[in-house]
Amino acid sequence: MNVLVIGSGGREHALCWKLSQNPRVSRIIAAPGNGGTARVARNVVVKDGDIEGLMALVRDERIDLVVAGPEAPLVAGIADACARAGVPCFGPDAFAAQLEGSKAFAKTVMREAGVPTAPFEVFDDAEAAKTYARSHGAPLVVKADGLAAGKGVVVAKTVEEALAAIDDMMVAKHFGAAGGRVVLEDALAGEEASFLAFCDGERYAVLPSAQDHKAAYDGDEGPNTGGMGAYSPAPVLPRERWNQTAELCIAPILKRMAELGHPFKGVLYAGLMFTANGPMVLEYNVRFGDPECQPLLMRLDGDLLEIMLACAGGRLDPSMVRVRPETALCVVVAAPGYPGAYPKGMEISGLDEADAMAGVKVFQAGTKAGDGETVTSGGRVLGVTALGATLAEAKKRAYEAASMVHFDGCRFRRDIGDKGIARSK
Ligand code: AMP
Ligand code: GLY
Repeated sequence: MNVLVIGSGGREHALCWKLSQNPRVSRIIAAPGNGGTARVARNVVVKDGDIEGLMALVRDERIDLVVAGPEAPLVAGIADACARAGVPCFGPDAFAAQLEGSKAFAKTVMREAGVPTAPFEVFDDAEAAKTYARSHGAPLVVKADGLAAGKGVVVAKTVEEALAAIDDMMVAKHFGAAGGRVVLEDALAGEEASFLAFCDGERYAVLPSAQDHKAAYDGDEGPNTGGMGAYSPAPVLPRERWNQTAELCIAPILKRMAELGHPFKGVLYAGLMFTANGPMVLEYNVRFGDPECQPLLMRLDGDLLEIMLACAGGRLDPSMVRVRPETALCVVVAAPGYPGAYPKGMEISGLDEADAMAGVKVFQAGTKAGDGETVTSGGRVLGVTALGATLAEAKKRAYEAASMVHFDGCRFRRDIGDKGIARSK
């Protein structure tokens, strides 16, 4: 089996690592990959949104399974192109990928499917949006409809902030076409968690709950990032509530997408907020979360290749998704300045020593294999991930390993897992 993994983050290193454990996998190509994927796959420089380039790779390398890490290739139609070429793809078609690619689409499907979510309105006109914001009052959440690299959401505490966000998105076109349409929704309060399920268009198999840490600094302070750490399971969503939660936020979406003629295949990621009125869906992603993928795959005991083929082929058996009982925790080691501007090309030391620790895996994200050494090439550089019998033990081990790696100005949050530890007490 030849597998193509699209993307270049810690998530993609984890996907390549897990897929490489199946002896049926003879070759993995990562496009474009990073220093970590280079250890288990062959990196080929094709961008993740370049469907033609990716399909040329599929033909030239005789690929048997395409795995989309990020959303860009899915929104751009990689699954549709694979279907035309008769090659299995793990990930939804472009229509279904609108669950992530368009907030208005996602909210409308949620409403139609009866999924609990914040009340909202969709606007194509800035003046109409501002009139609504003034009459609604604050707090109010302003969301650019399209993909905006995680920066298209403003939780406005005042009406002035909401109006400024509407101007930024719809008038100044800060996010280009993505902001031509906005969703205005009620602000919710509560603890967040990520809940992911493998889907084959009809059936699903849930993964354990996880929790991301989006803010740059300890105590959830500072600007939002792609995610500074994650762990699984998340005590805010304990095992006894997984089935019920899936009935609430996964099953109705699968049913609705099938009714719309686009059965959802791949991994459906529900971003949940646990409010005083129960769980509400903030957003869907149509792919693994990064960094949630890293602890989730550390815990996955089933065979990822077989699960992905079964999802793509419409024959998922939930018993394939077995999970280790331990907790896994991932600490993201970032470049100085991230999520703002940051330097690149710093040499990384201690990688192999940390990786050799029992129960530890260092997933690489913004890295590049240089002449013998590995250097930084992005903002989120490493995802140091460890298993432990308890959340506290996983945390201790992950931080021990994180303290062994080094590059100039490297930085990580010190409080990954603390919300879960407090809740388990
Ligand atoms: P989204 O991309 O829709 O998940 O939004 C990104 C982040 O914005 C979420 O992880 C939340 O922290 C926050 N957010 C989104 N929607 C709401 C909401 N309705 N109320 C409060 N915070 C929200
Ligand atoms: N960690 C959040 C995301 O991947 O969207």
